[in-house]
Amino acid sequence: MKFSTIASGLLALGASFASAAEIVKRASLQQVSNFGSNPSGVKMYIYVPNKLATKPAIVVAIHYCTGTASAYYQGTQWAQLAEQYGYIVIYPESPYSGTCWDVSSPASLTHNGGGNSNSIANMITYTINQYGADASRVFVTGTSSGAMMTNVMAATYPEMIAAGSAYAGVAAGCFYTGTVNGWNSTCAQGQSIHSQDVWANTALKMYPGYTGKRPKMLIHHGSADTTIYPQNFNETMKQWAGVFGYTYGQPQQTIPNQPASGWTKYVYGPNLVGMYGAGVTHNIPVFATDDLEWFGITGNNASPSPSTTAAPITTTLATSTKTTTAPATTSSASNGGCTSQRWGQCGGNGWSGCTACASPYTCQKINDWYHQCL
Ligand SMILES: *[C@@H]1O[C@H](CO)[C@@H](O)[C@H](O)[C@H]1NC(C)=O
Ligand SMILES: *[C@@H]1O[C@H](CO)[C@@H](O)[C@H](O)[C@H]1NC(C)=O
Repeated sequence: MKFSTIASGLLALGASFASAAEIVKRASLQQVSNFGSNPSGVKMYIYVPNKLATKPAIVVAIHYCTGTASAYYQGTQWAQLAEQYGYIVIYPESPYSGTCWDVSSPASLTHNGGGNSNSIANMITYTINQYGADASRVFVTGTSSGAMMTNVMAATYPEMIAAGSAYAGVAAGCFYTGTVNGWNSTCAQGQSIHSQDVWANTALKMYPGYTGKRPKMLIHHGSADTTIYPQNFNETMKQWAGVFGYTYGQPQQTIPNQPASGWTKYVYGPNLVGMYGAGVTHNIPVFATDDLEWFGITGNNASPSPSTTAAPITTTLATSTKTTTAPATTSSASNGGCTSQRWGQCGGNGWSGCTACASPYTCQKINDWYHQCL
């Protein structure tokens, strides 16, 4: 056999190995069609960074109603930060018109029940197998309906998820209607009020008999949310407080102005932290860099200085139809001598950092507390 034949044979072999391992193009959003059993028809998109870590962590980033995998990919920092830290992002996409998540049917509210939560769990298993990802570092986050699903994933697949971070959601089970993709307005309007034991049991019975480890939870909500009322912050905190054996209403620490000015951080212990944003509407910013620390993907204990590291991204939620017409309250001490980078903060109550944006970005008011270079 001629050397060139052998060489081309080896090349072909090498190429086929590479394509088997590299099932998707890196560093762009790619759809994966056959990730396993998918009875509820959820779509899977994935972002694998160019600089993939060995045994990478997985972040599941779940969009809001009217959102898509692509919108959440573009509207949050998860993929951008994946390039820096080497983790994989899974962006599930809702199969329903209106693209809310099914967080209301018995199927989705049950471990291996065949609903949306089951499909997302199968995406996680697929990604662990395909990329040798670290099964002990799987994290779930989402906004609005995606935050509801974050709580549902934590309750239905506690053995898979190490930590969650929810933005403007409801307690797992609060949206129950008994139908697929239902809307529970009693819950949305903050009128489903229960004790922490009732809420904890609601979560626990989604995976009967499970006694293992549970994901630690970080819960965000705005006090001016008129889509998913702020009472849902309290009810969600009760749920996880009950699950972890904390006492709701008695946080170990209450810290003002974290993760940004106008917010308050409630630390119940290592497994539960709440962030409540005064004046923040349903158009809630995502504090991705803080979440990475919560997940343990980044981390030293140095508490980040909000002026330099809090660079939340706001996804535009079509559900929040309210436009703020009141003039912006004056930002404090203008600092025109410097510029914030894209995604960086550039104003808001209590802000004393740079107020100009690096070209071509402009400073846009997200809410009274947060103006951002977009
Ligand atoms: C919404 O949930 C509450 C319990 O929190 C329940 O009483 C109510 O019937 C549910 N609404 C619908 C439309 O199913
Ligand atoms: C809900 O929690 C927030 C933040 O801790 C608190 O300000 C508010 O009073 C609570 N609401 C109720 C009804 O307890």
